[in-house]
Amino acid sequence: MDYSWSEYAKHYDRATPHTSFYIDLSRLIENFIGCGLVLDAGCATGILSARLAESGRRRVVAMDACEDMLVLARQKISERNKERLEVIRGDVQNIPFSDSTFDAAVCVNVLFDLEDPLLGLTEMYRAIKPGGLLAISCPRPDFSPDVLINQAISDYKHKGILDDLLDDLDYMIKFNRGKIPRQVYSLVELECMLEDVGFHNKMSFERVYADQSYLIVTEK
Ligand SMILES: C[S@@+](CC[C@H](N)C(=O)[O-])C[C@H]1O[C@@H](n2cnc3c(N)ncnc32)[C@H](O)[C@@H]1O
Repeated sequence: MDYSWSEYAKHYDRATPHTSFYIDLSRLIENFIGCGLVLDAGCATGILSARLAESGRRRVVAMDACEDMLVLARQKISERNKERLEVIRGDVQNIPFSDSTFDAAVCVNVLFDLEDPLLGLTEMYRAIKPGGLLAISCPRPDFSPDVLINQAISDYKHKGILDDLLDDLDYMIKFNRGKIPRQVYSLVELECMLEDVGFHNKMSFERVYADQSYLIVTEK
């Protein structure tokens, strides 16, 4: 059975920000993404978008195709960041902005769910300015949902919040075991695709996100 992002939205929003693997990946990306206008392509509930908008001199466009994710992303617009965080509905494969709009883009664990990943990469290339960076992470081909789940349980126990998140954890387990990826690429395969689209790869991290994803930082 495949699971929908709509159903997952509220559980994702509660469970994800407390995991060490999401926090570590966010920090890593934040270190590479400079200032200016940043696209968070497939932002889900905008956890990373809000973080990026609140640190550094950035403005962030948080974009996702799923309205239920975006409802929760909009709730992250506050007095503090309202000038710097915009939330919009849009398709990574048809980005509703003109060429060379963004100084940088981030795309965390989205590509595997696109109907046409190559089109998604081409669109991100088009929307980024020359010299701008894309930080993109994807699940590794040997992705193990159980490793992620066990790490999340250990993080929640450590923080004393396991009991509060039991329902969300339950859904996270079902979702991660049941979600069927459309496309899974190895790190080397994605590096080649990015080069084919026109990017110049700068740096790759083979294991992030509790060792279950990789991260590529690449430049237009
Ligand atoms: C694992 S979540 C992404 C997590 C998010 N990047 C973060 O940092 O928390 C995958 C997201 O991709 C979105 N998505 C899937 N296909 C999409 C598309 N064609 N355009 C935009 N978003 C898409 C889903 O709605 C979902 O919110």
